[in-house]
Amino acid sequence: MDPQAVKSNVVLILDYGSQYTHLITRRIRSLSIFSLCISGTSSLKSITDLNPSVIILSGGPHSVHSQDAPCFPDGFVDYVEKNGIFVLGICYGLQLIVQKLGGEVAIGEKQEYGRMVIEVVKDYGGLFKGKQIGDKQVVWMSHGDEAVKLPIGFEVVARSEQGAVAAVANPGRRFYGLQYHPEVTHSPKGMELLRHFFFDICGITAGWKMEDVMEEEIKVIKGMVGPDDHVICALSGGVDSTVAATLVHKAIGDRLHCIFVDNGLLRYKEQERVMGTFESDLHLPVTCVDASVQFLSELKGVTDPEKKRKIIGKEFISIFDAFAHDLEQKLGRKPTYLVQGTLYPDVIESCPPPGSGRTHSHTIKSHHNVGGLPKDMKILDVPVSFLKRHPFPGPGLAVRIPGDVTQGNALDILRQVDEIFIQAIKDAGIYDVIWQAFAVFLPIKTTGVQGDQRTHSNAVALRAVTSQDGMTADWYYFEHKFLDDVSRKICNSVRGVNRVCLDITSKPPSTIEWE
Ligand code: XMP
Repeated sequence: MDPQAVKSNVVLILDYGSQYTHLITRRIRSLSIFSLCISGTSSLKSITDLNPSVIILSGGPHSVHSQDAPCFPDGFVDYVEKNGIFVLGICYGLQLIVQKLGGEVAIGEKQEYGRMVIEVVKDYGGLFKGKQIGDKQVVWMSHGDEAVKLPIGFEVVARSEQGAVAAVANPGRRFYGLQYHPEVTHSPKGMELLRHFFFDICGITAGWKMEDVMEEEIKVIKGMVGPDDHVICALSGGVDSTVAATLVHKAIGDRLHCIFVDNGLLRYKEQERVMGTFESDLHLPVTCVDASVQFLSELKGVTDPEKKRKIIGKEFISIFDAFAHDLEQKLGRKPTYLVQGTLYPDVIESCPPPGSGRTHSHTIKSHHNVGGLPKDMKILDVPVSFLKRHPFPGPGLAVRIPGDVTQGNALDILRQVDEIFIQAIKDAGIYDVIWQAFAVFLPIKTTGVQGDQRTHSNAVALRAVTSQDGMTADWYYFEHKFLDDVSRKICNSVRGVNRVCLDITSKPPSTIEWE
């Protein structure tokens, strides 16, 4: 082993399909370390070409015993040992290390999902900094199998309260493993451990900056798009597509043609507000298409959430097609590229979970990096107030009206309630500490009494969550007075609402959106 061979400061993640894989990449980048994510079954050459200093074997849904269990390529262990590369297995990654290096993994007697307490039994190799990173600590587990016999030279570093192996190490061979997910916020000491692992144990030097990516990306776009090529970008009004469009606009100027679709499912005055920012602040060339009638007529009577999403997706595509066609007529040439509404590098770089049969990246809902973006993105001149906007889902208010979105004046009621709620949150100065807040129209009528009259009107729900990434979330604890004020204001000013409920579920078990 030649430690001098370690010089790249690249952390490479081999993806075995965990829903959290992209998060690891992002967390590592937040430490100013460059990290890349490639398929867990990539060839040895693809791995060696990247010359990593550290390799992370991600979690994944497979059992190491299943026939199609994905694995690192032949020669991997030799390669990492000869080059002094540190390897950290997380969850499935730990089990892969244990099984492939001569230990044993079995189906756990008790499966461990969610919050668990682990205890450091012996900090072999200093993974927990001599127990400074907690002795007993809460972590986020998600596994069925467990390591029951370790390969020679490995020791158990931590165990769960139920006795399952939670961390292992073989510092001599530079192999480490965690049965839990340090990258999720529900492992409160997770980042501290990762920081200590990369900097103190692996000796990585932090030097990667978001700005480098910007310049690099602009160069890449300039190189990729020919000098006369035209590009289309669909803007949602969200952070990701705006940032993507701004970046491409910097690279190719007005050969970028953006389209913003009003699908009739937007928030209160969304079209005017968003178009105003695009035009006055960002100077982006945007065509606004009002397709609300088209969308709503297709959605009429549809109650199944998945059907609703599919219809919305299909309508979007037909509008983009028509836009591309019109542009072709105008320019006398076909637009060559379509900019996708996400800039998430990990989504692009990540590969499908092996065995999933998918040929594209993970199907991940938009997980906007609102918390981390503003500081980094200032260089793009996107107004911070825009970057700090709460995420808004592609299918819009349709996923906040369970059932038929065209029922009565549900959309109108929802817009008014949502606006009151969001404005109150802004007035209270808590907008930025909340990941996402919105109102939901409940498709039920309840009895009320307003102005001495019996009413039979709709109920609405308020939802506000804190989160780092939208993958897990906690409901936000409002002050009673705030809730009281908002509830009164809604019932007093929105016709058709006589009851306001508060959603007090975290994710999991709920999702953030209602559909
Ligand atoms: P869930 O409801 O899955 O939402 O907990 C997590 C985050 O993703 C957003 N979301 C979507 N964003 N298209 C999007 O662009 C969608 O279909 C979609 N569904 C959910 C949601 O608002 C939250 O921020």
